[in-house]
Formats: sequence, C-alpha cells, structure tokens
Amino acid sequence: MSAPPGSIRILVVDDEAAPLEALTDALHHHGYVADGFRSGRTALDAFAKTRYDLILTDLMMPGMDGIAVLQEVKRLDADAVGILMTGAGTIATAVEAMKAGAFDYLLKPFTLSFLIPVLMRAISVRALRVENSALQRGMRARTAELEIANRELESFSYSVSHDLTSPLRAISHFSAILDEEHAGKLDEAGRAQLGRIRANAERMGQLIESLLMLSTISRSPIAAEQVDFSALAVAVGSILRDSEPARPVSLVVADGLSASGDPALLRVLLDNLIGNAWKYTGRQSAPRIEVGATATATHPPTFFVRDNGAGFDAAYAYKLFIPFQRLHRAEEFPGTGIGLSIVARIVRRHGGRIWAESAVDQGATFFFTLSASDLA
Ligand SMILES: Nc1ncnc2c1ncn2[C@@H]1O[C@H](COP(=O)(O)OP(=O)(O)O)[C@@H](O)[C@H]1O
Ligand SMILES: [Mg+2]
Repeated sequence: MSAPPGSIRILVVDDEAAPLEALTDALHHHGYVADGFRSGRTALDAFAKTRYDLILTDLMMPGMDGIAVLQEVKRLDADAVGILMTGAGTIATAVEAMKAGAFDYLLKPFTLSFLIPVLMRAISVRALRVENSALQRGMRARTAELEIANRELESFSYSVSHDLTSPLRAISHFSAILDEEHAGKLDEAGRAQLGRIRANAERMGQLIESLLMLSTISRSPIAAEQVDFSALAVAVGSILRDSEPARPVSLVVADGLSASGDPALLRVLLDNLIGNAWKYTGRQSAPRIEVGATATATHPPTFFVRDNGAGFDAAYAYKLFIPFQRLHRAEEFPGTGIGLSIVARIVRRHGGRIWAESAVDQGATFFFTLSASDLA
C-alpha cells in the first residue's frame, strides 16, 4: 500500500523560515518531493496547480491560519490528507483541526522519528482515499450508463410494441373480412391458410399486449397499501374457474394473508402465478393449487403459489423470468413466455425477491417476498 517516497508529493506551510527549511530538507532527505511555502495563500496557489498528496501546515500563521488552509485544500481535493503542526497543543485546536479535515496533528517541536510514522499512516490513508474515489467514480459512471441503457430499452420496447399494433390490427381486420365475406371463393386449403394467418395475427397481438404490459409496469408508480392477499387470490381463482368450469381444480388459499403493495400490480402478479399453476396442472387428474405464506414467521412474509402440475427441470430455472423464454412447448401448453417476467418486475418494484422450486412432473412452487427488508 505504501508508495515509494519519490512519488509522494508533500506541501509544507509554515510562516517561519527556519523550521520550514528544516522540515522540507528532512523530507527531501527521506526521498519525498516536498515544497515549502511561507503563507497559506502561496501554498494554495501551488496546490491548485500541482498535485500534492499530503499537506503539512502550521496552525498559527498571520493572515490565513492552518485550519483555513486545510479547509481550502479539502475543497480543491477531497482526498487530500492534511496534517496540522501546532505549538499550542490544546485539545480544542486539535478538535477544530479534525473538523477541518486534518487527518492528524503534530505537537511542535517534533523529531523526525515522530514525524515519519505519522507520514506513513497519512500516505496509506491517502492511497485508500484515492482508490476509493476512483471506485466510486467508476461505479457512478457505470450506474448512469446502465440507467440510460435501461431507459432507452424500455422506451424502445414501448414504441416498438405500440407502433406494431396498427399494422397488425389491419392484418387482423382484413383477414377477418376475407374470411367472413369471401371464404366461399376459397377452396378448403385456402381457408385453412387463412385460418393460420388469423391465428398468428391473434398470437402476435397477445405478444405485443404482454410486451406493452411489461414496459408499463416498469414505468407506472407504485401506490402501496395493505392488501387482503387471500381475497385477491380467491378472486383470481374464481375467474379462472369461470373460464374453465369443467376442470376439477382444487384451489386452497390460506386465510389472513396480507401484503403491503400496489393492489393493481399484486392482482397482475397473482393472475400470472395462479394462471400458470392453473395451466400447468392441465394434465393432472386431480389438480391442486395452494396459495400461502411459509410457516416460519418471517417479516415480511414469504408467499408461495404451489401446484402439482407438469413442473420443470430446475436446471433451467434461471430462464423462467426472462421475456419469451419458455420451458414447455406451445403444443403442450400454450403461452407467450412473458407472464413471469411481468411478475418478476412487479416483485422487484416492490423491493422483493422471487424464486421457484420444481422438478419435472413434480409440480412447481413459486416463492416471493414484497419488501427489501427480506432477510432470506
Ligand atoms: N406453475 C408452473 N409449472 C411449470 N412450469 C411453469 C409454471 N409457471 C411457469 N412455468 C414455466 O415458465 C415458463 C415461463 O412462464 P410465463 O412467463 O408465465 O410464460 P407462459 O405461461 O406464457 O409460458 C413457462 O413457459 C413454463 O415453461
Ligand atoms: Mg404464464
């Protein structure tokens, strides 16, 4: 950590010529680059022009005192390390010096054997401060870049989705007219092709709608309140049951689940998670879906949606929350592959975490929290 003395530049300020010369000579002798100045003003002029790592300044000086010098130095370089030299070594001055950003102070007169360890410590601190500042600058730059890239990506996907809807609507509209008014002029193969066009246009419409949903969720502000999660889950379940009344799905929702979050977004979250559970239990003879919170009383609670359906290979779990990634073929289970990305964004926007456990044909459980204070 300690750099060779030759690369360390020290600025020394003392209004008295003799001690100033003695100190700069001693520092030169130890291999440091040291420049001496008789006043705070001239020292600061030099500091503004050249890089110095350490500033050794006398406290009592006519005009500008050592504390003012250090304050000014800090303004020019927040990472500079200052050491105050004082004859009037009262606690009060030391405290004041520390407030001004002095790293240490030396009681005058001091010997070289006393000065050198103080210098070494100051040099290490200087190196750490410089390194830390560089890291922070790098991090800030990287964060800013990421934020810009993210915003660009979001507005891009929003405008793409948005601009795609009108030509698509035209395709759907005209193929519907073709189908309804001119189907008689087509032979059976022609009608089948037309059917495929209409089905694909419809699927594209769903994809675009999901994409728009995905970017809307990243933009809309969160309006958090206490939500009756149990009631919400039951409501989602009854809509699914209405859509497929013949399916014997047993939906068990734990009583008293309460979550703090945006009710509209939590609704979308449960629509997707329970909707998936509903869909991926489609081949079970006794499909069962359970919504609850884990038994351990964590705060905030860890909720889960569990099913006994098709499950998935846990090795591919990392793909689940990426848009358009699906672990099942469309012929097996239809879908767009966006639902869980929407869910993950909702969870993230609430400061929570989501993860899943599953094995092929063993059902799946999706766990999630809705707050950053989650310790799991
Ligand atoms: N409950 C579940 N059981 C098994 N696999 C699931 C379940 N939920 C999601 N998956 C898998 O994760 C993929 C992504 O889910 P999702 O984003 O909701 O898309 P979609 O349901 O449209 O396919 C699904 O294609 C499926 O392979
Ligand atoms: Mg889905």
